Amino acid sequence: MTTAEEHEKYRQASSFGAAADAYERGRPPYPPEAVAWLVPEHARTVVDLGAGTGKLTRALPAPGRDVVAVEPSAGMREQFSRVLPDVRVLDGTGEAIPLPDASVDALVCAQAWHWVDPRRAVPEAARVLRSGGRLGLVWNLRDVSVPWVAELDRILRDCAAAPTEDRQVGRLGTPFGAIERQDFRWSHPMTAEEVMDMVASRSYVITLEPAARAELLGRVHALLDATRPRDMPYVTECYRAELGSR
Ligand SMILES: C[S@@+](CC[C@H](N)C(=O)[O-])C[C@H]1O[C@@H](n2cnc3c(N)ncnc32)[C@H](O)[C@@H]1O
Repeated sequence: MTTAEEHEKYRQASSFGAAADAYERGRPPYPPEAVAWLVPEHARTVVDLGAGTGKLTRALPAPGRDVVAVEPSAGMREQFSRVLPDVRVLDGTGEAIPLPDASVDALVCAQAWHWVDPRRAVPEAARVLRSGGRLGLVWNLRDVSVPWVAELDRILRDCAAAPTEDRQVGRLGTPFGAIERQDFRWSHPMTAEEVMDMVASRSYVITLEPAARAELLGRVHALLDATRPRDMPYVTECYRAELGSR
C-alpha cells in the first residue's frame, strides 16, 4: 500500500464518529448462530475490538462472563455508552489494545478487521489472548444475489468509489492455528429510512464532498421508492482461529 493509500485508509477508518447516530439506526445486528460459532460458550473474558456502537457487543453477555469493548472513535464510544451503559468501553485500537497480556479468552472483531494494520494487530491480538484463546472475525455483507441489493451496490460503487475491502484474514498466520470459515444467510427487517442510515454511515459516504453525497443519497432514495424493500438480505461471513501455546 502506498503512503497516500494508507493516509486515505486512516481518514476513512477515523470517520465513523461523525455518523454514530445513523450508524446505530442503520446497521444490522449479528445473527445468534454466528455469535455462537465465533465465541466459545466457556469464554469468561470476551473483548469486542472496534466495537463501534456495540452492535456485536450486545450479543456477547452470558452468565459469569466479563465483556469489554475497545473502540478508537470518541463519537462511537459515546453512542456505545448510551446503548450499553453497563459495559466497559476502552479507548484503543487493534494495534494497541489497552489490556494485559494473556487476559482474554475470546477476541472478536466485527466489521473492523479490514481497518487494522495486520502487521501490528496480529501480534497484539496474540499478546492479549490466553493460550488456546479464540480470535473471531465477522462481516455482515449485503447479499448482492438479490437484484435490488445488486442495484444498490452499483449506485454505491458509481458514486462513492466504494473500496473493495481486503479483509486481511489470510494474514493471520503464526502464532494462530488454522483459520476456519462459516457463512450464515439471513435477512434483517429494515425500513427505507434505516437503509438510508445504513448508506449514510458508510465511511466512504461520510467522507464524500457534500454535493456528491447528496447525489448518492438521492439515487438510493429513488431506488428505495421504486422497490420498497422490507428487509435487507445478508450473508454473515465468519472466521475463527485459535492461539497456539506460547
Ligand atoms: C464498520 S465499524 C464496525 C463497528 C461494530 N464492530 C459493528 O459491527 O457495528 C468499524 C469500526 O472500527 C473502528 N476502527 C477503525 N480503525 C480501527 C483500528 N485500527 N482498530 C480498531 N478499531 C478500528 C471504527 O472506529 C469503527 O467503530
